[in-house]
Amino acid sequence: MPDLLDWTSHQHQGILVGGACTLIYLVSYFFFGQQPTRKISGKAARAFQLRQAFDRIKKKQDVKPLIQDNVDSPEMLKVKQLWIYPIKSLRGCSVQQAMLTNEGFYHDRRFMLLKKSDDTSETLENMHIAKFASMSLFHPSISGEKLLVSYRSPGTEEPTGEVLELDLHPNTKGLETVDVNMHRSPTTGYNMGSKANEWFSSRFGFDVVLAFWGDNPRLALGNIPGKPYGYSPKPKSSLSQAISQIPLVGSLMQDEENDKIAFNDCAPYLVINQSSVDEVSSRLSEDTSMDLTKFRSNIVLSSPSLREWEEDYWASIEFPTLDARIILTGNCGRCASLNVDYNMGQPGKGKEGEILKLMQKDRRVDEGMKYSPIFGRYGFVSKGGEGKVVKVGDVCRIGERNESGTTFYWPGLSTGTR
Ligand SMILES: *[C@@H]1O[C@H](CO)[C@@H](O)[C@H](O)[C@H]1NC(C)=O
Ligand SMILES: *[C@@H]1O[C@H](CO)[C@@H](O)[C@H](O)[C@H]1NC(C)=O
Repeated sequence: MPDLLDWTSHQHQGILVGGACTLIYLVSYFFFGQQPTRKISGKAARAFQLRQAFDRIKKKQDVKPLIQDNVDSPEMLKVKQLWIYPIKSLRGCSVQQAMLTNEGFYHDRRFMLLKKSDDTSETLENMHIAKFASMSLFHPSISGEKLLVSYRSPGTEEPTGEVLELDLHPNTKGLETVDVNMHRSPTTGYNMGSKANEWFSSRFGFDVVLAFWGDNPRLALGNIPGKPYGYSPKPKSSLSQAISQIPLVGSLMQDEENDKIAFNDCAPYLVINQSSVDEVSSRLSEDTSMDLTKFRSNIVLSSPSLREWEEDYWASIEFPTLDARIILTGNCGRCASLNVDYNMGQPGKGKEGEILKLMQKDRRVDEGMKYSPIFGRYGFVSKGGEGKVVKVGDVCRIGERNESGTTFYWPGLSTGTR
């Protein structure tokens, strides 16, 4: 068993960058690559196929990331880092390879936490790091079939105490369902039960529920690939949802729209540009640099510089060696989560608490997010990309560009669209 809680190797980077975990990861081409025409039918069958693809990848542990050093064209970019956040808003896992699925990297944001109300109303509030800064003290990692979560006291370097061990693929039979509504897009999750809930509750100091997504798609409500500005998909009737669960009929009725997400906020993928992280660092005082993990991206790209903030105009990134694309449809507007002190698990003080303001000066560049500085691009995997594996070191290039940028749209969230 590899050492998956490799805390010490991250110490030199400081705890802010730490929290990473090594994920013994994957790689496919095989399952999906060899049977591209095979239809996935119904939720369960699809989950099974993805898991099989993933398991095959894991067995091929000798697979080395394909490092390509011949990036000389300014048009070529390199995958510098890949991140997966098994539990939304907790620390992420830095991985060497990650498998594309329509709803985001496999294992990304498949769990989330909800806070129970203090009164007796039984209502649940979605937890996110901007409001619950102590979420940065929880460090998930993946080991085989297990999701491990450890907790670090504020200001300390090393996690202590009991590690919570969860099934990465919990059997949802017998689990209570829990209604989750994020940004007006509902889904049904599964309550992971008292062991997990008590472990988290005792550390947060209030009652929480850990929910598992269980392959119940949420709809992305805006910036869908191939759809015009202002388009929002209609929720499916429960009848057509039920039909799609019947394998044979479901496969005939296979929904071709790529508009589904898990517990991700607004899109399956978030792509950022390392140079822009450096640009934000240059706004901070000399002894601090921007902690890239606060941007909570999935893919960090680096390249020789072209133009400032050029990523605002990216419409797609292409991975020539994978024959896969990520279609970039919208900008990511930023909130107070950037000001969280990840080390202390509380709102940042001094310059650290002003990062949002420092960016607001000149990064409010999207009419659809008038008050929020923009950092990073939201993306969706193109058809045929599911099951392919992206590796650190892979070369990619910007496909198309949007000459006049894109406007963020999401009912209830975006500005100018109410
Ligand atoms: C990445 O960001 C930097 C700084 O904003 C910018 O100069 C560069 O052109 C960007 N890279 C690409 C490929 O757009
Ligand atoms: C951005 O560019 C892509 C690719 O050319 C195009 O499909 C899309 O409609 C453009 N979006 C906007 C808002 O112009």
